[in-house]
Amino acid sequence: MNVDLLRRLTEAHGVSGQEDQIRAIVRKELEGVCEMRTDTMGSLHCVRPGKGKGAKKLMLAAHMDEIGFMVKFIDDKGFLRIQPLGGWDPRQMASQRVFVHTKDGMLNGVMMSSTKPKHMLTPDEANRPLTTDNFFVDIGFDGDKAKKRVRPGDMITMNRTLQQMGDLFTCKCMDDRVAVYVMIEALKKAKKHEVEVHAVATVQEEIGLRGAAASGSAIQPDIAIAIDVTLANDIPGLDPMDYITQLGDGAAIKIMDSSLICHPKIVEHFRTLAEKNKIKHQMEVLPFGGTDAGAIQRLHGGIPSFTLSIPTRYIHTVNETVHGGDVDACVELLARYIEDAHKGDYTYA
Ligand code: CO
Ligand code: ZN
Repeated sequence: MNVDLLRRLTEAHGVSGQEDQIRAIVRKELEGVCEMRTDTMGSLHCVRPGKGKGAKKLMLAAHMDEIGFMVKFIDDKGFLRIQPLGGWDPRQMASQRVFVHTKDGMLNGVMMSSTKPKHMLTPDEANRPLTTDNFFVDIGFDGDKAKKRVRPGDMITMNRTLQQMGDLFTCKCMDDRVAVYVMIEALKKAKKHEVEVHAVATVQEEIGLRGAAASGSAIQPDIAIAIDVTLANDIPGLDPMDYITQLGDGAAIKIMDSSLICHPKIVEHFRTLAEKNKIKHQMEVLPFGGTDAGAIQRLHGGIPSFTLSIPTRYIHTVNETVHGGDVDACVELLARYIEDAHKGDYTYA
């Protein structure tokens, strides 16, 4: 594991539409590894030539954005009202430390809900479920100062640093920075390849796979592989039937989620490569969720598409957690696939 790179990627901040910090990291990391350009939506395309003129185009997609918030209103007492970006569970927003990113730098804040202290709550009030609208951010400034410093549209992200615990790594936004990590490391690791590789660090996935749709449309790839996290529900209180994946069981080869049925012949290709190279892997059937591959699949009359998943506990919380061995397995498997992709025949009889 290149822990330093994973740390830089997860500790950087970038909600949907404001991915600049992440793009700068990817650009620096892939300097000399690929040709790079940024498209009009902000996705970074990293291109490496294939063998010969008619080389197949392989598109990789890992999204740079994280779930977070933007400021929508600053009240006269200086409290910020927030617009969620991405799928937040209000229970996971309670009592969080946050950063507010202004034109003059980062401010500290706390995200709290509009509720009386526990001591004052009636049982009925205590049982009322919270919604995202109940939350605000306190940045410690009065109304005048707050309005001078903060502007509507400023992004709000969670205050968390990468922590290693046992075999695991935990931070905010492993979704999807760990996949950006996997894409970068696999590109460095892949030796000779015959396909033309378009590795795209995409934008705005969390609000509807928007950057990938635009990039995929421009590239018109022959094969599309998204890299994203998937649920590892292997925690107390859940039925093994609902685990989806388990930490430590290796790279997850996705069969389906609610955005796509992965192309069965790509699924088979990945499974065979994993077996041949003795890379630890598990199969994934996810009844929910979606990835960039779901948006790319339907372009240009259909593109053979697939998602390689990194098993992750506590997705869409501030403690998104992965296993180092699984991350390494994903890097290895993706590198071997890039080298082997030209052999894939994904046509139907
Ligand atoms: Co997500
Ligand atoms: Zn994701």
